Amino acid sequence: VTGRYCLLPLISLAAGAAAAAPPPLRPQPSEIHEQPGTMAFDSTTPLVVPASDKGARNAAERLAELIHGARGFRPAIIAADRPGAIRFVRAPGLPAEAYRLDIAPDGATIRATDDAGLLYGAVTLWQLATQPGATSLPALSIEDAPRFGWRGLMLDSARHFQSPAYVRSLIDWMAVNKLNRLHWHLVDDQGWRIEIRKYPKLTATSAWRTPAGAPGAPPLPKTGGFYTQRDIRAIVAYAAAREIEIVPEIEMPGHAASAIRAYPKLGMGVPLPDRVWSEWGIFPWLYNVDEPTFRFLEDVLDEVMALFPSRFVHIGGDEAVKDQWKASPAIQAKISALGLKDETALQGWFMARLGRYLDAHGRRMIGWDEILEGGVPGDAVVMSWRGIDGAIAAAQAGHDTVLSPAPDLYLDHRQGGGPDEPPGRGAIESLRRVYAFDPAPARLTDAQQHHVLGLQGNMWTEHIRTEARAAWMSFPRAIAIAEIGWSGHRQAANSDRDYRDFLTRLVPQLDRMKPLGLVAADSAFAVRLGARGGRLRLDNQSELPIRYTLDGSAPTAAAPLYRGPIGYDRPVRLRGAAFLGDRALPGALDRTIDATTFRVRTSQQLGACNDAGVALDLEDDYPATGPRPHFLVNILQPCWIWRGAPLDGIATIAVSVGQLPFNFQLGKDRDAIRFRPPATPAGEVEIRAGCDGPPLATLPLAPAAANPGITRLVAPIAAAGATDLCITYTATGPDPLWAIDKVELLAE
Ligand code: ACM
Repeated sequence: VTGRYCLLPLISLAAGAAAAAPPPLRPQPSEIHEQPGTMAFDSTTPLVVPASDKGARNAAERLAELIHGARGFRPAIIAADRPGAIRFVRAPGLPAEAYRLDIAPDGATIRATDDAGLLYGAVTLWQLATQPGATSLPALSIEDAPRFGWRGLMLDSARHFQSPAYVRSLIDWMAVNKLNRLHWHLVDDQGWRIEIRKYPKLTATSAWRTPAGAPGAPPLPKTGGFYTQRDIRAIVAYAAAREIEIVPEIEMPGHAASAIRAYPKLGMGVPLPDRVWSEWGIFPWLYNVDEPTFRFLEDVLDEVMALFPSRFVHIGGDEAVKDQWKASPAIQAKISALGLKDETALQGWFMARLGRYLDAHGRRMIGWDEILEGGVPGDAVVMSWRGIDGAIAAAQAGHDTVLSPAPDLYLDHRQGGGPDEPPGRGAIESLRRVYAFDPAPARLTDAQQHHVLGLQGNMWTEHIRTEARAAWMSFPRAIAIAEIGWSGHRQAANSDRDYRDFLTRLVPQLDRMKPLGLVAADSAFAVRLGARGGRLRLDNQSELPIRYTLDGSAPTAAAPLYRGPIGYDRPVRLRGAAFLGDRALPGALDRTIDATTFRVRTSQQLGACNDAGVALDLEDDYPATGPRPHFLVNILQPCWIWRGAPLDGIATIAVSVGQLPFNFQLGKDRDAIRFRPPATPAGEVEIRAGCDGPPLATLPLAPAAANPGITRLVAPIAAAGATDLCITYTATGPDPLWAIDKVELLAE
């Protein structure tokens, strides 16, 4: 025992006082009844499990592990009851995943009917036991059960591969938020990530790829990997011990390029170009519908079912563009022979056939909402991703459905516009917006609501190259999803008060998750800097109070509260943090403000000229190692606007540009990307006042053409006053994609 535990009596005094406050639990339990008194909780408190109850022992082991991470000691697990213990008790008659937790001065009891309920009782107890300084637990009774049975996250391991260690961490993070489904997207055009013993070329050929690079850029190292069957068994067991069912996804009939590349006979005979590996978007390669192809898919599903005990198996079905089927006489003959209407109906026939195969093996098919278009068996589950329209159509047709709508629950969207946000889809899906997602929209009738199994956040990884970024993009938004899934939609989920209440419970939960290795996004708290009329403006996404200093010291709870724009004598060092009570939150601002501060904008700080198009925050393909810049760019219409740029006293404009490979499969959309014609071979950046007038400044791209990194272009600019600067470039086509790194206004 270290010195730390000698302090116990002192800490208990403080904890006794703290125990009076309502415990900040997350997800919020259905019912909490607080009672007078506390129960002592320290390293001598044992966990009591009935002999030979494996589920209870597992829940106790998880609790001991969590307490160890949080508090540094590991409670003993024993069989004989004793006063002051935490007991795991099997109680009949509670709903699935429900638990009851009673804490009294003489001990605590977690009761549940199923294993999941016992684990969730343990998770709630852990939340109470990690309160800062607490060496006692507040006496209370909690009765709790989830609103939805499907509380999920999807992880795309195909576009970028994550290590088994990351997947286990994700499972840890999910479990302590009572999320219970990990939908694992293991296969896509850019990679095949699951070892299939019968078809070794799937991984030998398609587990590694060379990322795209702009023309002339040094090649990037290969990226990829795959999960061996041994890895998968271990991960499935790890998840099961945390009551998480892994739902594997094998995509078909589209998103199949990785399989067709390995075994070309599975495809329509259209060769795959080399570059296909590193492009994003929707590819036209589809499986053919020959008997050997079905045998292949059934063989793959056999191995998948042997690895994953999940009741559900996801077989994709999204974004299968039918060009190759339309162009094929063999497919047309098949459509006629089957008496089908068209290629969409053929996809329905295809999916239904595999759905029946799963059914015959005791599994249930789930697919993206396109599976509805061609008709699927009645018990197929529809995952609604094109908004919630798929869920409505599914429920109307009598199918169960899972809500994972884009953009609301697509976690590859940026969650803030700040400089620390990693790449992703450009449009911002804030924590607040995710928390406001309504899983019981009025558009669904009560009867249709009964078909909603639950909801899920989707972590697509085209633009999420690293595990640290995947974690940042997933949390804390996944906690909002967990709360909606567990507690349901509360009347006022959109109200300030409700969101504030969520934050007060979220922040302690993020603290608790730190020992589990989570570095979550601070976007909801990050202090943002702006200027108005020569004064400094601060705000944060969550509209929390901000405290600031101008003397270089870190803002504390005693620092002045920000009440409105701050005057300053430049230069000044401004530090500010959002506060929850006395607690300074992550995402603090620390900036030295001088004459140049508001004369620089990054691509993320510039506006888009047009709401149409596809805004992405894309990482540079250079350098191969170390940090790379990233740029916010509308790939269908590259154009940035600086509204009200302060041009008084400005003589020169500097535009720093990077070049990106245009690695997007966009079909006909690519032809619609238009540029003004270049005056010089490499083209020019053009700056206009508004987007229609003549250029105020023209910056030839020639010096940047041979530079794979950032090039700073400089030109004189003659204009005055606050001006909307519109920034475009001339080109003969979309590749390379030029992207603004930053724009600077200079006095000379
Ligand atoms: C999807 O986002 N294509 C399901």
